[in-house]
Amino acid sequence: MELNFMRLAQAALILSVAGASGAGAQTQLPAPDSGTPIAPVATTNKDFTPPDARSIPDNEFGAMVRKGQDIFMRTGEYTKDYVGNSMNCASCHLDAGRREDSSPLWAAYVLYPAYRAKNNRVNTLTERLQGCFQYSMNGIAPPADSETIIALQSYMYWLAQGAPTGVKLEGQGYPRLEEPEQKPDFVRGERVYEQNCALCHGTDGGGQKVEGKMVFPALWGDDSFNWGAGMHSVSTAAAFIKANMPLGKAGTLTDQEAWDVAQYMNSHERPQDPRYDGSLEATRKQFHDEPSDLYGMSVNGKILGQNATPAGGTLRNK
Ligand code: HEC
Ligand code: HEC
Repeated sequence: MELNFMRLAQAALILSVAGASGAGAQTQLPAPDSGTPIAPVATTNKDFTPPDARSIPDNEFGAMVRKGQDIFMRTGEYTKDYVGNSMNCASCHLDAGRREDSSPLWAAYVLYPAYRAKNNRVNTLTERLQGCFQYSMNGIAPPADSETIIALQSYMYWLAQGAPTGVKLEGQGYPRLEEPEQKPDFVRGERVYEQNCALCHGTDGGGQKVEGKMVFPALWGDDSFNWGAGMHSVSTAAAFIKANMPLGKAGTLTDQEAWDVAQYMNSHERPQDPRYDGSLEATRKQFHDEPSDLYGMSVNGKILGQNATPAGGTLRNK
C-alpha cells in the first residue's frame, strides 16, 4: 500500500509504548556493515536460552554466523537472487529467530533431519531451508553448497550451542491452538483485522514500505508468501497470530479471534504454489487436501488460487 506517514507514526508509537522489540528494532537497525549487534536481547526460556548476539566470536566462523544473521534479518538485501518478495526470514521468526513460540531457529536446529509429510520423506536441514526460500520467500532454492545455506546453518548452529539434540525444546514451532468453538469466519475476521492489524499491515493487506524497504510485511497479495508456504494454512497462521500478533500486544486476541483473522487473511489471493501443474483441483488434491487449507476453495464467489500470479514474484522480471 501507499506509504502513509500518519499511520506509520501511529504504528511506531504503539510499538514503543508496548516495548516491542520486533518492528521497533527493525526501524532502528544499524547499517548492515556496522558490526553492531542486531538482536542483543537473549530470549529467556525454561529449557534453553540462545547466546547473546554480542558473543558471536571474532573469527572466520563468527563472520559466517554474522552473515547468517544478516541474511535472516534482511533476506532480500543479502540474497536477492533467491527472493521474490519483500519479506525477511525474521518477518515470521521474530527477534532474529530467537523468540520462543515464533518457530525459533535454536529449537529447529536440533530437530533435523526430520520426516515431513509435506514431501513425504526425511528432509535435511538444507532442504528445509531451501523450502523456506521457495515458498515463504516466493523465490527459488539456493544451491545446497551456496554460501547462503552455509551462513544460515552456521547461524542456527551457533544459536543452538549447548542445546540437547533430537529434543523438542519448549518454545519450538508455534503453540498449537485448540479447534475453535465456532467455525472460523471471514466476516468476524475482517472486523478483527480492521481493529487490530490494518494499522500496520494496511487495509489491503499489502504491508507498508519506507523508501522501498519493507517495514510492515504483506499478509496477502503479490508481495507476500505464496500458496505453498506453511503460513497459508489457517491453523498455522492462527497459531502464529495468537502467540505473536498484534506485534507488541501478543496474546491479547482470544483463540476465536485468532482463528477468525487467520481465516480472513488466508481467504485472499497470493502468489501461486510453485508446485501448481495447471490444474487447481489436482494441485489441491495432491498438496492442499485438508480442512484448514483454503487453496482451491471458493470464498465470496472467487476460487482461491485461480487469479494467483505465477510463483517467483520479482525474480520473474530478472
Ligand atoms: C504494531 C504493528 C503491527 C500490528 C498491529 C500487527 N502486526 Fe503483524 N507484523 C508486524 C511486523 C513488524 C511483522 C514482522 C515481524 C518483525 O519484523 O519483527 C509482522 C508479522 C506478521 C506476520 C508474518 C509475516 C507476514 O507478512 O505474513 C503475520 C501473519 C502477521 N504479522 C499478522 C498480523 C495480524 C493478523 C495482526 C492483527 C491481529 C497483526 N499482524 C498486527 C507488525 C504488526
Ligand atoms: C511467511 C512466514 C515465513 C517466512 C517469511 C519464513 N518462514 Fe520459516 N517457517 C514459517 C512457518 C509457518 C513454519 C512452520 C512450518 C510449516 O508449517 O511449514 C516455518 C518453519 C521454519 C523452519 C523449521 C522450524 C522447525 O522447528 O522445524 C526453519 C528452519 C525456517 N522456517 C527457516 C526460515 C528461513 C531461513 C527463512 C528465510 C529464508 C524463513 N524461514 C522464512 C514461516 C515463515
